[in-house]
Amino acid sequence: MGQRFLDKINPYLRKIRDLQFREAVIQLIMMCPDYITVCPASSTGKYHPTDEVGRGPGMLRHMVRVMNAGQVVCDINNWGNYHRDILIAGAFLHDAFKQGEETDQVDAEDIPLASATHTIPEHPVHIFNLIMGYMNLIGVKDKLSDQWLFDLAHACLLHEGRWTISMAQDLQQDDDMTDITREICEAMHIADMMASRRYFAEAMQYDRLFCADKES
Ligand SMILES: [Fe+2]
Repeated sequence: MGQRFLDKINPYLRKIRDLQFREAVIQLIMMCPDYITVCPASSTGKYHPTDEVGRGPGMLRHMVRVMNAGQVVCDINNWGNYHRDILIAGAFLHDAFKQGEETDQVDAEDIPLASATHTIPEHPVHIFNLIMGYMNLIGVKDKLSDQWLFDLAHACLLHEGRWTISMAQDLQQDDDMTDITREICEAMHIADMMASRRYFAEAMQYDRLFCADKES
């Protein structure tokens, strides 16, 4: 689980500067579903760019665009590597359970099928629980401050901003959220919104890695 996903995005994960945080993110990616590598970014295609719809690298393209938009938000605010690292990780993790958990069944490419065939509204909760569980149970204590994973988990949980489902709002740990946590959550939402709007996203470059099928 997660190896195909990791293989696809490894070049981007190297942009994470903090090596201990990068290692934690790699471990988290390995716990995420591989169906993301062939999953559309949108079930309906109502707002998303047309190259993110249908079976193929649509979700990966979306994730790269979210990463790029997140770095622009960092540029605007003159934020440093802490914000930048978490927003890169968030770009690749926030939608990782878009169609739910993996099942035992596989498709023709031997990729495990998702539990749903469309976006599930509680997908932010799945990734939040994974990251908080990793922080609390597996942990990276003595190597990496819990704050990194706490802020990453909240950025993923609240990436839909004011459209966040009440289940997500009930989970957020307000008492432990810092001003920086809130900044990162807002930036994650802005980056996701920008990358999800056809008129912005189609002008935003994504990596050739994900469009080789079109260019060959
Ligand atoms: Fe997204």
